[in-house]
Amino acid sequence: MKLTKLMATAAVGVVLAGAASAEDVEVLHWWTSGGEAAALNVLKEDLAAQGFGWVDMPVAGGGGEAAMTTLRARVTAGDAPTAVQMLGFDIKDWAAEGVLGNLNEVAEAEGWDAVVPEALQFFSKYDGNWIAAPVNVHSTNWVWMNKSVLDATGLGEPTSWEEFIAVLDAMKANGVTPLAHGGQAWQDATLFDAVVLGLGDEFYKSALIDLDPEALGGDMMVEAFERMAVLRSYVDDNFSGRDWNLASAMVINGEAGAQMMGDWAKGEFLRADQVPGEDFVCIRFPGTQGAVTFNSDQFVMFDVGENTTAQYAMAKAVMDPVFQSAFNVVKGSVPARTDVPNTDFDDCGKKGMADLADASANGRLFGSMAHGHSVPAAVKNAIYDVVTAHFNGEFDAQTAAEELVNAVESTL
Ligand code: GAL
Repeated sequence: MKLTKLMATAAVGVVLAGAASAEDVEVLHWWTSGGEAAALNVLKEDLAAQGFGWVDMPVAGGGGEAAMTTLRARVTAGDAPTAVQMLGFDIKDWAAEGVLGNLNEVAEAEGWDAVVPEALQFFSKYDGNWIAAPVNVHSTNWVWMNKSVLDATGLGEPTSWEEFIAVLDAMKANGVTPLAHGGQAWQDATLFDAVVLGLGDEFYKSALIDLDPEALGGDMMVEAFERMAVLRSYVDDNFSGRDWNLASAMVINGEAGAQMMGDWAKGEFLRADQVPGEDFVCIRFPGTQGAVTFNSDQFVMFDVGENTTAQYAMAKAVMDPVFQSAFNVVKGSVPARTDVPNTDFDDCGKKGMADLADASANGRLFGSMAHGHSVPAAVKNAIYDVVTAHFNGEFDAQTAAEELVNAVESTL
């Protein structure tokens, strides 16, 4: 390590123990799993090398629900953090409250308009002003499989719902838990994203983006819930409350065959020294090839008056193309900029980048409902409740579809 970097890293240690100064950023985030923390370290070190301190405010809980609750409490107490990891419609909701800073100065100097895709700018801007810096693009319609568990089935990588079920059945017959899953509302909803998309782009769009009551309550939605119940039958009995990274670990150690999860799961496989194509395989959720449901982690800067130096430095660092490559290689996501080469990415990352570009060019890129990019939080939470209640056996498929219409309607 170079001396300057070493000194900067030591400085971070000092800052962590003390109060924040004007040259620090206090960052509220939910990146606490092994893979997530490793990725966040890339950013901490980048800022440290520039002489900026990092005051860490981690709030554990995949998907960020707990982090958003903490954020609300902090802002209500008049003590907003300088920077906050945030998703989709939450960014717009906070912007509407008039409490965010303005990043136009950095965005203009760095030419963000030309390199950030429209689908992301939709969330990074409010009233035409840049209010957030997108650090990545994740997608949710992936399946992560243990390669030897898959090979033991004698079947190839599934490309349709029927083939997927055949693989899960064969895993079960081999005495392996077919599907590693954690029973938390956002994880159930992540499955639901993929299942709905698997029934067609139009269906995903009309149900989970346009909130068309006919799609939300129709025959196809009943089928979606039936498929969710089928998936539930491949999950072990101890799934309730399990964190997503523990479900990833089950696939990594061969206790389970597959996990349906966004590509942050890849960060866990990499942390465990697993090699794509050798130890694990990444496939699109069977039946959704060519389409992508995305979410993008963005750093939102709260209004801190004149003290913008550290904030601007962080926004600039987050958007640096070299940083975007280094960070996303570790995180499992792909860059939020269109001009970052795929050279350093592994095969799953290269596929992720190509899929994103294709889906975007073909009108097959959709915001993830489960991760706050298709509807505002109030609607998302109403959908979560129904999906989770059904997943836990409270409703049959028909009732769940009816409840979904009611739940969404009550928020509009
Ligand atoms: C997502 C977030 C990802 C990942 C995941 C699990 O909402 O976008 O970066 O961290 O939650 O925590």
